[in-house]
Amino acid sequence: MKKIRAGIIGAGFVGPLHMEAARRLGYVDFVGIATSNLASAQQKAERYGISMAFENYAQLLEDPTIDAVHICTPNHLHYPVVMAAIDAGKHVICDKPLALSAAEAREMRDAAKRKGVVNAVTFNYRFNALVQQAHALVAKGELGKVQFVHGCYLQDWLLFETDFSWRLEADKGGVTSSVGDIGSHWCDTAQFISGLQITRVLSSLSTMVQVRKKPKGSREAFASGEGKEEHEEFLVTSDDLGSVLVEFDNGAKGAFSVGQVCPGHKNDLQVEVNGSRSSLKWVQERPDELWLGYRDRANATLLRDASLMDEAVRGYVNLPGGHGEGWADAFKNLMSSIYSFIAAGYSPSSDADKITFPTFEDGYRANCVVDAIVRSNQNRSMWTTVEY
Ligand SMILES: NC(=O)c1ccc[n+]([C@@H]2O[C@H](COP(=O)([O-])OP(=O)(O)OC[C@H]3O[C@@H](n4cnc5c(N)ncnc54)[C@H](O)[C@@H]3O)[C@@H](O)[C@H]2O)c1
Repeated sequence: MKKIRAGIIGAGFVGPLHMEAARRLGYVDFVGIATSNLASAQQKAERYGISMAFENYAQLLEDPTIDAVHICTPNHLHYPVVMAAIDAGKHVICDKPLALSAAEAREMRDAAKRKGVVNAVTFNYRFNALVQQAHALVAKGELGKVQFVHGCYLQDWLLFETDFSWRLEADKGGVTSSVGDIGSHWCDTAQFISGLQITRVLSSLSTMVQVRKKPKGSREAFASGEGKEEHEEFLVTSDDLGSVLVEFDNGAKGAFSVGQVCPGHKNDLQVEVNGSRSSLKWVQERPDELWLGYRDRANATLLRDASLMDEAVRGYVNLPGGHGEGWADAFKNLMSSIYSFIAAGYSPSSDADKITFPTFEDGYRANCVVDAIVRSNQNRSMWTTVEY
């Protein structure tokens, strides 16, 4: 099989995880890297075994031998880097949220469509085998009519005033932190499992830690500074906690909470779907279990095991039952979904029926929901229609 040559732009927390996942496929070679400056790109190129370190992303995109690029920079750079990558004719894999606003995301989606390049957004939670199973069960009508979709995405890594990230700086992370960063994941996962689209929202967003100590130097994502480094006071304007009521296109109701300041919750994404016949629930921190709830018989827990799962989703299982799978395996499944499409030489327009990964269309739709949640909060928590 011909190897696909990939470039990586941004290699802090998630960039190396993109590489690790795609390298597991065996036919993706990371040949170029660009980060915030040449010295850091060279250092990371050495660490991750990449032959070409570039001074900036524009130079990486000029390399005609690179087929696909992964964009793993802070959010505000997604738009300029993605647009330049599309212009250069590269296939583009961008992390979430796709853009700072739905308007930006729409331009990115349209540009990718015009150029015909493969475009993907890394909404990775869809690719847990039991999330695929949940999706298949709902699609087959096993739950009956979906009536209520609810859950949360809670973390605690921004609990202390000494915790800091570019995610809290509106010009880099966007006007929302908790909703844009992790709420976008909740919405995508809930919509994927339920097969429904969010049409209306009512939100209440808060900033629990209003003044933070912003380190003067740089700091790795998710690292705690403990307040010992030199810092300046930073007035936070974006949310770190929020609750949202939602309505779906079939009339189903829903609700979810997001928070980055909830002690004890590390990466606690939970989605529960209640149908007219039965229920299901998936919890990211227990990814190998799918809870199934019934009125007229005992509830059950399906443990991930290909032989017990829908035939259509068995390909998402990497290991035999009892051999734990998790976040990194779901990321590998996502990369497999994207790169098998690229390797087959499929085109996003003429082979749309073969797309099994989230595209810029999904990224755009997630940005539309996030924008509506922000608008609702600004309008004293009024019910707000999502404008797609
Ligand atoms: N899918 C997921 O579950 C998931 C998880 C974490 C982060 N993310 C997303 O991934 C993106 C990156 O997040 P992160 O946590 O890795 O951030 P990070 O701060 O750890 O890393 C950002 C990287 O971007 C680089 N960078 C900054 N300016 C640049 C420039 N001008 N050109 C090239 N590179 C530049 C930095 O040097 C760094 O390597 C964000 O959009 C975030 O929302 C997604």
